[in-house]
Amino acid sequence: MKILITGAAGFIGSNFMYYEMQKHPQDDYYALDKLTYAGNIKNLDGLKDHDNFHFLKMDIGDTEGIDALFAKERFDIVINFAAETHVDRSIADPSLFLKTNILGTANLMDAALKYGVKRYHQVSTDEVYGDLPLGRKDLFFTEESPIRTSSPYSASKASADLLVMAYMRTYGLPASISRCSNNYGPYQFPEKFIPLIINNARHDRPLPIYGTGVNVRDWLYVDDHSEAIDLIVRKGKEGSLYNVGGHNEKTNIEIAKIVLKELGKSEALITFVADRKGHDLRYAIDPRKITTELGWKPKTKFADGIKKTIKWYIDNSKWLDDVVSGEYQNYYARMYEGR
Ligand SMILES: NC(=O)c1ccc[n+]([C@@H]2O[C@H](COP(=O)([O-])OP(=O)(O)OC[C@H]3O[C@@H](n4cnc5c(N)ncnc54)[C@H](O)[C@@H]3O)[C@@H](O)[C@H]2O)c1
Repeated sequence: MKILITGAAGFIGSNFMYYEMQKHPQDDYYALDKLTYAGNIKNLDGLKDHDNFHFLKMDIGDTEGIDALFAKERFDIVINFAAETHVDRSIADPSLFLKTNILGTANLMDAALKYGVKRYHQVSTDEVYGDLPLGRKDLFFTEESPIRTSSPYSASKASADLLVMAYMRTYGLPASISRCSNNYGPYQFPEKFIPLIINNARHDRPLPIYGTGVNVRDWLYVDDHSEAIDLIVRKGKEGSLYNVGGHNEKTNIEIAKIVLKELGKSEALITFVADRKGHDLRYAIDPRKITTELGWKPKTKFADGIKKTIKWYIDNSKWLDDVVSGEYQNYYARMYEGR
């Protein structure tokens, strides 16, 4: 099978590439990425010598480019991870989020329909459900929970989901959608919470915590998300929507303390900063559907996953330094351009 993975040089996309190519080495993989500030071709270094790995630097919104690519390669499966993903950036300027996350998705689906892709999968987020109150541990997001977005980021992801549903119903696009909770693991851009606090802690810099740090996220190790997507695209029913989450709720302050303890640093580094506008209070996923239908269960316990993750960033401090300094952006030009 020929599989197109968009956003493959980002955090989850690159982890998925390693997971999937190891699990299904017989398939042919096309990793597509625009290499925005969040995309790092170095993340895929370990795959570049495989004959069944191909990299394409392209924008999912490039109508002619995407059409020509689909016409040439005739993909069996398309998995769309590509997106603008940082909530704070979406609050500062929503426009690129609308362009990439909504119009880019439509562009991919147009090509998928035209060239007979057998499964289009949209990687979405639990943030489309808005938030749950703190102190109501009985409440969870199910696949039937209403869409109730809080940020321009989540609104753009929800809009894309609605378009996917419309393409399924109106044009018969064979598609599926997954809505996952917060991921953690290697290769995450250090503007996001966990790598950011690991990076600051290792330099003894203050750890900025929004508000009072009580916001709750349902953390899932990235490989467990990859396994869920692998199961959905290969075994999940066409037209279905699955929530993915591991019943692993932690407040931001708890996470900060765990990271500081693991690195042997003082809790005095915790610094409270002005809260994010519209900051969601609590996300919590009910994953019963994917567990019942596809037998998916998270394999990594948080205590182990967070240790493994912290160790990865410390062992790969050069990766962190290059990302923070912007050096990674020169790497593609050095390695690939003019070849
Ligand atoms: N990180 C999480 O906790 C989480 C949770 C649930 C869902 N998601 C979803 O998973 C997907 C991947 O998230 P991530 O955390 O890996 O994000 P990321 O920001 O690390 O990676 C996004 C990737 O998409 C690429 N990209 C951006 N615009 C593009 C365009 N126009 N054309 C082609 N490529 C483009 C970027 O270069 C980058 O490599 C997103 O769709 C996100 O909404 C993320």
